Amino acid sequence: MRSDQPGPSNSRSTMSSVEYLSHKGILFPSMNYSVETLLHVENEFQILDDDVFNVTFPKSGTNWMAEILALISKKGDPTWTHSVSLWERSPWIEADYGLKMALNMTPPRLFCSHLPFQLFPKSFLKTKAKVIYTLRNPKDVLVSFYHFSMMMKVLKTPGTLQECLEEFLTGNVIYGSWFEHVKGWMELKGRPNFFYITYEELRQDLRGCVEKICRFLGKELNSQQIDSVVENASFRKMKENKMSNFSQLDETMADFKKGEFMRKGISGDWKNHLTVAQNEYFDRVYREKIQGMNITFPWD
Ligand code: A3P
Repeated sequence: MRSDQPGPSNSRSTMSSVEYLSHKGILFPSMNYSVETLLHVENEFQILDDDVFNVTFPKSGTNWMAEILALISKKGDPTWTHSVSLWERSPWIEADYGLKMALNMTPPRLFCSHLPFQLFPKSFLKTKAKVIYTLRNPKDVLVSFYHFSMMMKVLKTPGTLQECLEEFLTGNVIYGSWFEHVKGWMELKGRPNFFYITYEELRQDLRGCVEKICRFLGKELNSQQIDSVVENASFRKMKENKMSNFSQLDETMADFKKGEFMRKGISGDWKNHLTVAQNEYFDRVYREKIQGMNITFPWD
């Protein structure tokens, strides 16, 4: 680990030139995030019964699910996804810009969030608002995050993959520990307004997943409309869609010479990156930290 490695307990920490903000032990990018907004979102933000939340740990398929949900809400018609940026269609509630937008949105509202459950709006538990939680093999999350961090100027430039792996496994990354995130949200399993799905299932059978999501949301789409959701949420279509591929991000935020948001879009890319030793180390930590969850994921 690098000696300049910040700990989650630091109030503001630096590595490369980027600063992170630490709130209740969880790191957030400093740009676009503030303690005021995070506290407001947790304690005061009023969730409505017809709100839909797309919740993930970063790099688990957030934008894919956001595209799917936007298309479902318009019965497969891509006009909205082709004309309004993804982050305006479904703002990240915990970001400063997202909260501002949220306070002016007319229902039914669609949001994204990476918040761990303990920082999510408290009002959620008193409503029928729906949460769709998407998980992904954490090894692929790590690899995707590693590449994403190289490209995003608001994130610390990662050192080696080994360093990134250690930070990931200790939760010393934005939004904290993958394990805690998953454990926190999966406590809601079984509630009628909570639905979880994996990136791997989306990859394997997108149509079947879209049908399941429609059932959960109580949306009736005919076969052609579902075809259109599947077609327009494909990796190829999203990569071409300027409103969804993040190519319009301000250059103060991203350096597209160093990578692209729609990178590979596959399951199992970790096999191309982790050494045998890194994989074994990851497995050991994974087994230890996932204990007691009583859920088998597609990658287990
Ligand atoms: P890779 O970096 O492995 O390619 P998030 O939206 O949570 O930041 O996740 C980003 C990951 O989802 C990236 O993974 C990206 O390529 C992948 N992704 C985005 N849209 C996708 C799609 N339509 N199909 C498959 N993967 C997609």
